[in-house]
Amino acid sequence: MTRFTVNNQAVEYRLDPETPLLWALRDASNLTGTKYGCGVGQCGACTVDIDGRAVRSCQVPIGSIEGSFVTTVEGLSRDRSHPVQLAWMAENVGQCGFCTPGMVMAAAALLKRVRDPSEEEIRASITNLCRCGVYPRIVEAVQRAGRIARGDERVAPVARPGTSPAEASRTVPALTPARDDKAF
Ligand code: FES
Ligand code: FES
Repeated sequence: MTRFTVNNQAVEYRLDPETPLLWALRDASNLTGTKYGCGVGQCGACTVDIDGRAVRSCQVPIGSIEGSFVTTVEGLSRDRSHPVQLAWMAENVGQCGFCTPGMVMAAAALLKRVRDPSEEEIRASITNLCRCGVYPRIVEAVQRAGRIARGDERVAPVARPGTSPAEASRTVPALTPARDDKAF
């Protein structure tokens, strides 16, 4: 049994302690926002936040993070209001979107450490791969997210048509919508 916290919920995993965190999240917790790309720590599609650091979950045996606090893309905000999410939508970063959850988690972790990162710091910190090649937009979005987080810019929340946190919680049981949540 391995115990740690996922998206603010205490979880006990009855899995082999050598199980990669990626598969515990996807297969046992149904948190499929965290993606499987390469499985060897190269692409960053599986990036989650562990105790404030962006970590590639395919390389982390769950037995090594007993007592840790894990945040996945589903837990970043309840309503896509995290500055990185707002900036990603405003900059229209996503193309196929496969790399997006990992990129967003890496960006969010960077902004916790560096409030106003330079292009060089962003490129050095976020080494995730994007098959669609949206790297210039990622730099723009991370810097815009920094401005939003610092209160220097406001961006209206953008929701995809027909989706709401309540709907997300039906397919992602680890999430619980706020009581006053309404469909967008
Ligand atoms: S799937 Fe983990 S780094 Fe590629
Ligand atoms: S948007 Fe397609 S892999 Fe990055």
